[in-house]
Amino acid sequence: MNKPIGIFDSGVGGTSIWKEIRRILPAEDTIYLADSKNAPYGAKSQQEILQLSIKNTELLLHMGCKIIVVACNTATTNAIDYLRKTYSVPFIGIEPAIKPAALQSKSKTVGVLATRGTLSSSLFHSTAENHANGIEIVEQEGTGLVPLIEAGEVSSNDMKTLLQKYLKPMLAAGIDYLVLGCTHYPYLIPVLKELLPAHVKIIDSGEAVARQTKAVLEKEGLQTESEVFGTSIFYSNSDLFVLNNFLEDDDAIDVQHKIF
Ligand code: DGL
Repeated sequence: MNKPIGIFDSGVGGTSIWKEIRRILPAEDTIYLADSKNAPYGAKSQQEILQLSIKNTELLLHMGCKIIVVACNTATTNAIDYLRKTYSVPFIGIEPAIKPAALQSKSKTVGVLATRGTLSSSLFHSTAENHANGIEIVEQEGTGLVPLIEAGEVSSNDMKTLLQKYLKPMLAAGIDYLVLGCTHYPYLIPVLKELLPAHVKIIDSGEAVARQTKAVLEKEGLQTESEVFGTSIFYSNSDLFVLNNFLEDDDAIDVQHKIF
């Protein structure tokens, strides 16, 4: 089916997921919504996150999307059950990847860095309980990280100071895996590697989300019939140059800026 894949996030973070989708499904058209004006979602109530997720979904459906990728842990953990019940298209979500970290951890201690909205959700709690068998999960809210990333400050001194503060209790608890529970955080991997001891591994689930998107498109018979490179359209309700900072020169074939 030659309709686009819709992807939304509270801002630029979900471009880390879009890049994986682009790599694994190059012929698919994509439409990306960056709701940067309303970032960070992580500090909002569940009702607000739900309303914003509905608004983003309806915009993408209005633009003819055949599947929606909720490229935001906060929106997934607070809204995906409702979205799945309400709309007929398939939804792909992203949640902190506790399972692979818990299975591989030797110190049996895993850190999860995510937003308050994600860590306080019941979906996150049930996932954590399911995989926490004999594993200590050290949760850390990443308050302030998303606004800095949205401002393009991925390796500023303010960012390093905040990260050091957030990593300290996790390192003191003996983590050997750090799960990135927010799609903005993969942009922090270079600075996290500077700040973390070499034995601590970082887990991010962008690739798994893209693979799941491919599997669902195939299962539902929704793959594109096109064999040429798909188009990518990016909508933002903040300054487009901010979004462009997170895209390589050849990433965006057709970039549009639209207030929504
Ligand atoms: N990218 C969103 C996530 O994965 C960031 C949430 C926020 O805006 O606080 O949770």
